Amino acid sequence: MQIEQKKGTFEIYPYQNPDISVSERVDDLLKRMSLYEKIGQMTQLDITLINKTGNQKDVVIDPKKARNLIQNHHIGSFLNGEAVEPETWNKFMIELTRIAVEETELGIPVIFGIDHIHGASYLKGSTIFPQSINLAATYNPEHAYNTGWVTAYESSDLGHHWIFAPVLDLGVNPLWPRFWETYGEDPHTASVMGSAFVEGVQNNEETAPYKQAATAKHFLGYSDPRTGWDRTPAQLSIQQIQEFHRPSFQKAIDAGLKTVMTNSGEINGVPVVASHFILTTLLRDQMGFDGVIITDWDDIGKLVDFHFTAENFKEAVFHSIDAGVDISMTPKHLDFNSSMLELVDEGRITEERINQSVRRILRLKFELGLFENPYPRNDRLHRIGQPENRKKALDAARESIVLLKNENNTLPAIKPRRIGVLGISANSKRNLCGGWTLAWQGGKESQYPDEMHTIFSALKEEYPDAEVILFDPDDIPDPNAISKKEESAFLDKLNALDLLVYAAGEEPYCEFTGNINDLRLPQKQSDELELISQSTASLVLTLVQGRPRIITELIDKVDAIIHAGLPGFEGAKAIASVISGRVNPSGKLPFSYPQYPNHFLPYNHKKSSYFSFDPEEANRIIQNNESPALYPFGFGLSYTTFKYSKVRLSSESMSEDGSIKAEVSVTNTGKETGTETVHWFTSTHFGRITRPVKELKHFERVTLNPGETADLEFVITPQKVAYPVKSGKKIIEKGTYSVIVQKMHNDFEII
Ligand code: GLC
Repeated sequence: MQIEQKKGTFEIYPYQNPDISVSERVDDLLKRMSLYEKIGQMTQLDITLINKTGNQKDVVIDPKKARNLIQNHHIGSFLNGEAVEPETWNKFMIELTRIAVEETELGIPVIFGIDHIHGASYLKGSTIFPQSINLAATYNPEHAYNTGWVTAYESSDLGHHWIFAPVLDLGVNPLWPRFWETYGEDPHTASVMGSAFVEGVQNNEETAPYKQAATAKHFLGYSDPRTGWDRTPAQLSIQQIQEFHRPSFQKAIDAGLKTVMTNSGEINGVPVVASHFILTTLLRDQMGFDGVIITDWDDIGKLVDFHFTAENFKEAVFHSIDAGVDISMTPKHLDFNSSMLELVDEGRITEERINQSVRRILRLKFELGLFENPYPRNDRLHRIGQPENRKKALDAARESIVLLKNENNTLPAIKPRRIGVLGISANSKRNLCGGWTLAWQGGKESQYPDEMHTIFSALKEEYPDAEVILFDPDDIPDPNAISKKEESAFLDKLNALDLLVYAAGEEPYCEFTGNINDLRLPQKQSDELELISQSTASLVLTLVQGRPRIITELIDKVDAIIHAGLPGFEGAKAIASVISGRVNPSGKLPFSYPQYPNHFLPYNHKKSSYFSFDPEEANRIIQNNESPALYPFGFGLSYTTFKYSKVRLSSESMSEDGSIKAEVSVTNTGKETGTETVHWFTSTHFGRITRPVKELKHFERVTLNPGETADLEFVITPQKVAYPVKSGKKIIEKGTYSVIVQKMHNDFEII
């Protein structure tokens, strides 16, 4: 086939012909590639190896370095960077692409991976949504979809082809420093929200002619390390893996997921990146994933110097390729490439095994349209940070705020005259966003958008007629060194105010930098709250945090508690609008808020999670939420009240191919319009494998005006209460089940 090109007419190869099938193009290209070119496609290197200074934030190409790696080592993928102007990304990607496409024999485009996990995180001016833990609290998958969609909308033109999100690990250990990157502890919630994000990224048609690939990470079981520290050993039974950790990844795969990133840690003594069972038997054979598996950062090297399962890097490469890895995020050297050559030369890795991975990688690049449209464009940069998309982020943030306590008619705060704002997050932008925002560990405060509000400035805007006073950290006397005189002077100052908003929580952290030994709210914050609570002003504790810090001893000292989580660039406005009542809070906790620093229990724990000689006592402890949850999974208050009817069932039993319609009516019995998320749980009374006390199977949001009633239904089939055994096969057991809504239940039989 001949095509006209700017440089005249020349023969093109079948792989360059978009009119033939992807598999034909892959086969044609593969046979034209040398072994070393194929290995290059299996390699991803960090941006610091091709930029001028070797610094992460430097998005300026060093053509000499880039040419060497692409022309001589045929590297097919790069990653990372930090928030720079779109024009800077555009220039960088043009120059990188030109080298790959025009200065190599086969012209295979590079694919660039980047951690845009809650909006285009590494792009100045972008729309930054709440982190995933907040999106889960909305129980509104539209927000997860929008986060993925806007991320693609704002970054696809820049040559960002590969989004390293969503995290589909479960937030089951509140100590874990990546808790906030998850959609919470529940498999069903993570499945619904995660697959919505994947669809938002991968199915965005506005980004044409570009497409992006999402990445489900970190496969799998990464989020439940025994110590709660990042990347440390997890002991998970295959039953736990199949039943709790697999569903969110499975749903994303069923939604067309294109790539998976490995868990850097070990499960039951086997590092995942070297586990043929996890990466091939489970992920490919059982779950049907046929996309690209990429390691996480230096996961292969970790087999040598972290897990000590391989004596040298070449052995580590062999273990990971044998396990099923397609791409090595090496990311800082070429040992993967040389090791692969040696392993092929020794006959330990076959070229057919390499072809298997390279086919997947080339298919990914063809499917993303990289060969037809390898270059970025700069004629749509106005798309970045558009008001309508920032409104989507604000809506998500507003719906993500969870009201945990509200007494003495504290909230909504109607026309307070004098407001005091205190705490480490009172006037911080970066604390509202967490890690992976502008930079890996969160940007410097000055990097955040000028127009972005802090809680202090948002309250000033929300209450234009009030005097809003910011208490800087130094304005609060040290509670442990204060004299009686100083204390009374400070309290006099506070007593002159109507409302105090104490914004507690955490500074940003990411991965292992967020490891902690104590889940309690930092002592300084507890001491300050203790002191402040002695004032006569109403006190609202606002928790700006990536994980649920222990506040049990403090809850009786404050009038109201707002869980703000990490609400993103629009978060302060969302918090202020909840405090003022402009927004009636509707968020529900997607995790069990621990009561004690040393005992965590997810809502879907086992009946045997509490033993007593008196079974009734054990049952009371667990069933009445007297378990270690301070605030149970799914908890969240509103400024109105809702009344639930009994759960009605269309039948008391069903056969294995039958169904039962469950119904419940919800009435707004208060004075405000409000939105309620109705959680439908089931419980299995007896199971050959011990069953959770309850499992979330469906959720639905409903907005009701005062006095209005909605009838909601959930159709239960035996498949919906089936559970996997260790082979992954789902089984349905005859017997008695319950449908549970709030604290009500109704039983049915599968016969
Ligand atoms: C990090 C993270 C992973 C991220 C990758 C690339 O170590 O574990 O989530 O996508 O490296 O930045």
